[in-house]
Amino acid sequence: MSKEFKRYTVTSALPYANGPVHVGHLAGVYVPADIYVRYLRMKGRDVIFIGGSDEHGVPITIKAREAGITPKQIVDRYHTMIRDAFSEFGISFDIYSRTSNAMHHQTSSAFFEKLYREGKFIEKTSDQFYDTEAGQFLADRYITGTCPRCGNERAYGDQCEACGSSLSPEELIQPRSTLSGSAPVLKTTRHWYLPLQEYEPWLREWILEGHKNDWRANVYGQCKSWIDQGLQPRAVTRDLDWGVKVPVEGAEGKVLYVWFDAPIGYISATRELTDNWETYWKDPESRLIHFIGKDNIVFHCIIFPAMLKAEGSYILPDNVPSNEFLNLEGEKISTSRNWAVWLHEYLQEFPGKQDVLRYVLTANAPETKDNDFTWKDFQARNNNELLAILGNLVNRTVVLTHKFFGGVVPEVTELTEDDRLLLGQLEDFPGKIAENIEHFRFREGLNQMMNLARLGNKYLTDQEPWKKIKTDEERVKTILNLSLQVCASLTLVSAPFLPFTSQSMHRLLNISENRWDDAGNQSLLKPGTVLGDPVFLFEKIEDDAIQFQIDKLEKTRQQNLQPKAAIPLEPAREPVNYDDFLKMDIRTATILAAEAVPKTQKLLKLTVDTGLDTRTIVSGIAEYFKPEEIIGKKVAVLVNLEPRQLRGITSNGMILMAQNPDGTLFFVTPEGADVVSGATIR
Ligand code: MF3
Ligand code: ZN
Repeated sequence: MSKEFKRYTVTSALPYANGPVHVGHLAGVYVPADIYVRYLRMKGRDVIFIGGSDEHGVPITIKAREAGITPKQIVDRYHTMIRDAFSEFGISFDIYSRTSNAMHHQTSSAFFEKLYREGKFIEKTSDQFYDTEAGQFLADRYITGTCPRCGNERAYGDQCEACGSSLSPEELIQPRSTLSGSAPVLKTTRHWYLPLQEYEPWLREWILEGHKNDWRANVYGQCKSWIDQGLQPRAVTRDLDWGVKVPVEGAEGKVLYVWFDAPIGYISATRELTDNWETYWKDPESRLIHFIGKDNIVFHCIIFPAMLKAEGSYILPDNVPSNEFLNLEGEKISTSRNWAVWLHEYLQEFPGKQDVLRYVLTANAPETKDNDFTWKDFQARNNNELLAILGNLVNRTVVLTHKFFGGVVPEVTELTEDDRLLLGQLEDFPGKIAENIEHFRFREGLNQMMNLARLGNKYLTDQEPWKKIKTDEERVKTILNLSLQVCASLTLVSAPFLPFTSQSMHRLLNISENRWDDAGNQSLLKPGTVLGDPVFLFEKIEDDAIQFQIDKLEKTRQQNLQPKAAIPLEPAREPVNYDDFLKMDIRTATILAAEAVPKTQKLLKLTVDTGLDTRTIVSGIAEYFKPEEIIGKKVAVLVNLEPRQLRGITSNGMILMAQNPDGTLFFVTPEGADVVSGATIR
């Protein structure tokens, strides 16, 4: 596994240029990627760090329509904003490009064309909603109508934001096009598909066997479940006028699917960066690493690799360190609900404190599970860790050196047992930190870095130079020299994590070295070196600054609550006569078994005892109930509903459910222990 690589091609997911970036982006992708490449550069490795904006896709066109401007104006605005925010946070891209660039259009178009020419795609026709007035096909998001679940009249073809259900356009009641307001019609269209199923044996071998031990469990697990569920042909083109035009005759009005063109953006950006781009993408001695969030796993581990494999001349990712999600104060970060800490706002509200956020997001990184960002934790980590441990060590050491030795690094005179112990540990730290960084365990790497600062503090406290100065100046020289060596090593090993702080420490300690392998050196800081004036590396964050943030979120929470409370009840329906009612044979029944229907999110396959028989019913309740929770449950069943085929399963009857306007579901359960299965309900 630990093959030696000559160079590194490190990519970080290209954020959509349809909104500003927030702490979730930083924590999930850009801070870890930046730590990794900064470390590699300090090790003297050949590395390129690629970033850029993802400027295609339907949401951008919608945002533009809503704002009454062009998609290009939208992406120009956000691309600049995102690029600047990353640069302020010290995310050290070698290039931050964008997918609207000519280089990208040319690269992705040529990529498609090669696959097309070599017969790597299949062509299929399907029926899709079409707006006859606007003369175009409609992406799911361009169709609105009434939500079949909650009655919200402004549900979208892919989702109802009132109740959160995911929908498909055919499910909407009275669908309308958002372009013209007219009722869309189904129309046949032709698209190109990448036959992923043909890559299955290869993917099994490459990922499931080849990367069992080095890919993170969350990444490996998602890949395995995708592959085990059976891969399907994946459409790589869309009927849309914003994106990379499909370079094939007869494909007018079609563009590449955004998830086909965007990852090629990594390659286009490399081409912009260097004429030597092919070495970074085609030489097997280059190590390709994709930093992404967990919602991107399938695209980077299955689809993009299948594209690269189909093309034939590219290397494949050697690792795809993907993080879980960062929540904010206990709730999922959401752009549409404004539940986020926006980087551009943070920069205004905490000027100069970029490293504090980098620190907190790394210390609390969602590496193995979702994690929570809270403002109290942010304050505590600044005050009790950065300030009290790292800042305090450096400050005390520098102040004492000024006080006792005029700010000049003193000589080591004689080493005691304690000193040797300290130096031994000092020597070991850089290796431990490096080991963690190389294995993408950034939070543990950071923790070790702080342990080195803790060690320095303990040494200083135990040695009490402020007392010894009265009786033994020689001894104090050694103590301060060694404490300064700890600070000097910290200057280097903190650099990947806290680049701004490390820079201040370089100036303060007058250190010019910045190679990783100099860290741990017992005499990194030469005696006689003149230190700068003491400065505080960190300042205390007061309660009122934190309260301001908490209040701001509370305001957002209140605003978000309002429209929700307004979801109306479904209007009353037309009257029916008693005979119509009696036609429905509704019985009590018992759920005997339940399991998820593979490849669906909503469906459970239930085995139900109706008293009359034991039968199978497929029910769309999987988003609300886990199979194991509902076994043994008494329910109401419409037993004479005509059997229906759902995902190849014959469903015989319907479980009756009560549904709140917000979409939440409840069983209709008979009360009383004596009720038998098969009792009639009327
Ligand atoms: N824009 C996508 C997202 O934010 C990520 C694209 S990554 C790329 O989820 F590889 F496609 F570029
Ligand atoms: Zn709804």
